[in-house]
Amino acid sequence: MPTKVTLSVNGKPVTREVEGRTLLVQLLRDHLGLTGTHVGCDTSQCGACVVHVDGRSVKSCTMLAVQAEGAEVTTIEGLAAADGTLHPMQAAFREHHGLQCGFCTPGMVMSAVDLAQTHGQLDETTVREGLEGNICRCTGYHNIVKAVLAGAEAMRADVPRAAE
Ligand code: FES
Ligand code: FES
Repeated sequence: MPTKVTLSVNGKPVTREVEGRTLLVQLLRDHLGLTGTHVGCDTSQCGACVVHVDGRSVKSCTMLAVQAEGAEVTTIEGLAAADGTLHPMQAAFREHHGLQCGFCTPGMVMSAVDLAQTHGQLDETTVREGLEGNICRCTGYHNIVKAVLAGAEAMRADVPRAAE
């Protein structure tokens, strides 16, 4: 039987009727058309589906939509500024070639932003450990690590915007 779920997605209030088994990632992609959040596995391992729920990174394939009742959800579509200016972490991925095919990138960026917000200053070991739940099949990770370190630095230099 469908259940009504009300939450905030990228700053906008949203109400939808979902099945009890509907995953958060299905709500985002199939009901709201936010297809920047990817599905790369069915074993909760790849991290392509990472979004922020109440400010913390979450694999949205591991959470039921109804569990997000009342939550503030941010997807990759909600990270850039309203005028299209990229978030510092997005800009760092672009500048440091932290992507190739781009499939893992939304999840990587969302995880990296949470990592930077949680730790402030990052080092390579913390980044590699922090991104253990995000799999990239293209890059070999070196440029992703470089990008995350640079993005975290840029966020620290841009505190008002990073705290939005
Ligand atoms: Fe792979 Fe969620 S789709 S961890
Ligand atoms: Fe292709 Fe990471 S850039 S999977």
